[in-house]
Amino acid sequence: MNRRQFAARSLAAFAGATLSPTIDSATAQSTAISTAGSAGPFPGSIPGSVIRQAHFPEGFLWGVATASYQNEGAWNEDGKGESIWDRFTHTPGKVRGNVTGDVACDQYHLYPQDIALAKQLNIKSYRFSISWPRIQPTGVGAPNMKGIDHYSRFVDMLLEAGIRPWCTMYHWDLPQALEDRGGWPNRELANYFADYAGILAKHLGDRITVWAPFNMPWAIAFMGYAAGTFPPCRTSFSDFLKAAHTLALAQGEAHRAVKAASPKATVGSAYEMAPAYPKTDSADDRAATERYHAMNNVFFLEAAMHGHYPKAFVGEPPLDIMGFKPGDEKILYAPLDWVGFHFYTRRVVSDASKEKFESGGNFSGTEIESNSPGGRDPYTRFRAAMPTEGPLTESGLEVWPRGIYDLVTRISHDYNHPAIEITESGCGYLDGPDAELQGRIPDGRRILWYREVLAELSRAIAEGARVRAYHAWTLLDNFQWAEGYTERYGLIYTDFRNQKRTIKDSGHWYGRVAASNRLDV
Ligand code: FCB
Repeated sequence: MNRRQFAARSLAAFAGATLSPTIDSATAQSTAISTAGSAGPFPGSIPGSVIRQAHFPEGFLWGVATASYQNEGAWNEDGKGESIWDRFTHTPGKVRGNVTGDVACDQYHLYPQDIALAKQLNIKSYRFSISWPRIQPTGVGAPNMKGIDHYSRFVDMLLEAGIRPWCTMYHWDLPQALEDRGGWPNRELANYFADYAGILAKHLGDRITVWAPFNMPWAIAFMGYAAGTFPPCRTSFSDFLKAAHTLALAQGEAHRAVKAASPKATVGSAYEMAPAYPKTDSADDRAATERYHAMNNVFFLEAAMHGHYPKAFVGEPPLDIMGFKPGDEKILYAPLDWVGFHFYTRRVVSDASKEKFESGGNFSGTEIESNSPGGRDPYTRFRAAMPTEGPLTESGLEVWPRGIYDLVTRISHDYNHPAIEITESGCGYLDGPDAELQGRIPDGRRILWYREVLAELSRAIAEGARVRAYHAWTLLDNFQWAEGYTERYGLIYTDFRNQKRTIKDSGHWYGRVAASNRLDV
């Protein structure tokens, strides 16, 4: 089933206001784990009375997350170089509706208005990314000062609004010139990236203190080099392994480069994570679930914290294919000052290591590619699925609020109670202005989603997890990668015909939550 079909089922699930009784054995298993005490609108959700009592600590940082290519537009202004996303979107047939991010939300020009809107919603932390090809048009060499100046003004304006600037150095828009040099499978990119990180810290590190090298490093490698669904659209599992190793090396090198250039810097992460549950209670499925967690959730976290990779593979790790050299452990090792990760949905995992792997060296599929014999790839040998026990959002992801509690609790436990930031979390629903409501946007399903997820998060905090920030994805409806403009994740509605912004009901609600640290607002 593709994302669209998921979306159709999501609507049906909501329309019926009940949950599909026909779930496969995967979800049946996890139901046993997760629905105990359920009383809210989602399976596994917690009772309304608990939501009413939920609260967040004084000083909790309510935030939003955004990304350069998805918002900025101005794709060829002020000396910016071409990125792999420019090349991809300019290639017909790649993006749904053949649209591009050439203009997107035009935030390169409209950012004063957007920062004012964030302030109006009581936002205290604004996660944004810097476009590498604005700073170094070909990925190497002296910085383009017009690019630096843009972000400098942007950061100043955030600070004036009393909002913490939170910088992702790379949210997928690689300079095309570096892809032409081999892309992430080319180990040299780790050094180029460290140079770039040093430039950012030198010019902006007097005001930005919160840095993360990569948004979703696993996805950068997997979607771009194994699944081929994102640029540069390669489908080679060895390229994936090489890219993953370069990214992990780059993470360590960038960490040191930023700290060398800016004494105030703290460096963390923006990893994608999905809590994983075994399909059955068998030892094989449980082991496969641990491999999933190692590969998809903590591969780069382990590399930074311990200087080696976790046990993500059946058998020995394919270090030779990755291009691992003696001494690389020291480069990988760069313990994070705080741990940042996203939460959207969960996975159910089963073992496929006893089957013959049939897809050869090449790979084509998605992260939840689940039907090919032998599993997703020749090394991890599991099958990951997205269950559909909970309702689906209109972007096709299962609603599973309990997942954030399980994830935060596990990371907190496994990494000795670090400071945690939720770097992205949100849901796609298409609600737009309602003429009968004078143009108001009544996106109640989004409020419900956040209310449940945040209640689960507050439970983890009450039990001792040191979560200090939550960033909703996202401030404005924007360019949603290969889905183009067909998905809307914003707290604010963007009319892409005239760039008019309208705060949705969920945006007003989130603003009240941010002001009160409570959910019953
Ligand atoms: C995440 C991406 C982000 C956005 C959301 C919906 O995977 O980091 O850019 O597209 O999904």
